[in-house]
Amino acid sequence: MFKIKDVVIDPPFVLAPVAGHTDSVFRRAVKDLGGCGLVVSELASTEGMTRGQGRTDHITRFAEGERPVAIQIFGADPARMAESAAMVEAMGADIVDINCGCPVKKVVRQGGGSRLLRDLPLLERIFRAVRGAIRIPLTVKIRSGWDHDSINALEVLRLAEDCGVDALAIHGRTRSDFFSGKADWGVIAEVKTRARIPVMGNGDVFTPEDAARMLRETGVDGVMMGRGVLSNPWLIRQCRDYMASGKAGTVSLRERMEFMSAFLGRVCAEVPPPVALGKIKKVGGYLSKGLPGGSRLRGEMHAARTTAEFFEALEGHFAALEGAGGLDQPFAPATPAEQGGHPDADEVEDDHRGRPPE
Ligand SMILES: Cc1cc2nc3c(=O)[nH]c(=O)nc-3n(C[C@H](O)[C@H](O)[C@H](O)COP(=O)(O)O)c2cc1C
Repeated sequence: MFKIKDVVIDPPFVLAPVAGHTDSVFRRAVKDLGGCGLVVSELASTEGMTRGQGRTDHITRFAEGERPVAIQIFGADPARMAESAAMVEAMGADIVDINCGCPVKKVVRQGGGSRLLRDLPLLERIFRAVRGAIRIPLTVKIRSGWDHDSINALEVLRLAEDCGVDALAIHGRTRSDFFSGKADWGVIAEVKTRARIPVMGNGDVFTPEDAARMLRETGVDGVMMGRGVLSNPWLIRQCRDYMASGKAGTVSLRERMEFMSAFLGRVCAEVPPPVALGKIKKVGGYLSKGLPGGSRLRGEMHAARTTAEFFEALEGHFAALEGAGGLDQPFAPATPAEQGGHPDADEVEDDHRGRPPE
């Protein structure tokens, strides 16, 4: 375990913010599976938050069972960032997190996300304004730099510490990498070596062995996982079990299918109908990666015109697997390639659709 100021993160495994995926329903599902010490919301636009009309309510809402929960905000205007952080504190969140890593055009064009890595004077004003507006812990999530000629994670760390930021999460890629290549854990280790505040390492943890290796090779206080959890929601629990006993534990196909049905049903119950179908297609697509007949199932789910048709396809697939006598075999998590190790720019832009700009 580790602490972010007075907030205990135990176990030291963190669900990363993933726009379009890690909403309250998904975060609760992951928490319920066990092993998750901290969840972080999807990025919320501080322009949207401070201009009112409840446009970001679906992003900033959380349930008690998620605690400790960090709400992530993005933007480039220190006053709006501070006002939004105060709103997050008033909502009762445990931590405010500033997004300094998002590479998507819509965010960067407004000066926010990873663009802040190129403007440290502005970043300093944001840190100081937000720090001055809240009492709860403040964290920041960064990439290693804007591009390979301007890797400045250590400078950003120093600035964050000087401004009273309480912890830092670092994804070991630059903005120009987007999601290509492999995350550079060397820069994560370097940041950890120099840091006086806790550091969470992030990037390319797809298995419990990866998490153990990141802890060992970088010395980070916590491991943050994103894409790996989208297709294997048990990943964080498996990391905890692996660290405790050397065994990650298996998940049967039956558990997997039951989780999918229950979780996607909850999405439909909680997400407004106009967006529910698109949402379950997207998250169902990730959850079906690596399943026997997964690509056929994805085709059927994708073709569904209503949520009823979607669930018919899902149930039909379960019945076929059951008929083949295969539901109680252990489920082998999707390989990193199957998990969509490198989403392309369009896919990520699409996951941010409807958020910025306001
Ligand atoms: C579709 C998508 C959406 C993302 N949205 C966010 C976000 O809202 N805020 C954020 O800080 N990072 C976001 N990220 C980055 C992840 O939090 C994480 O840093 C990145 O995926 C690397 O970790 P991983 O290899 O465990 O996935 C997003 C990544 C993806 C693929």
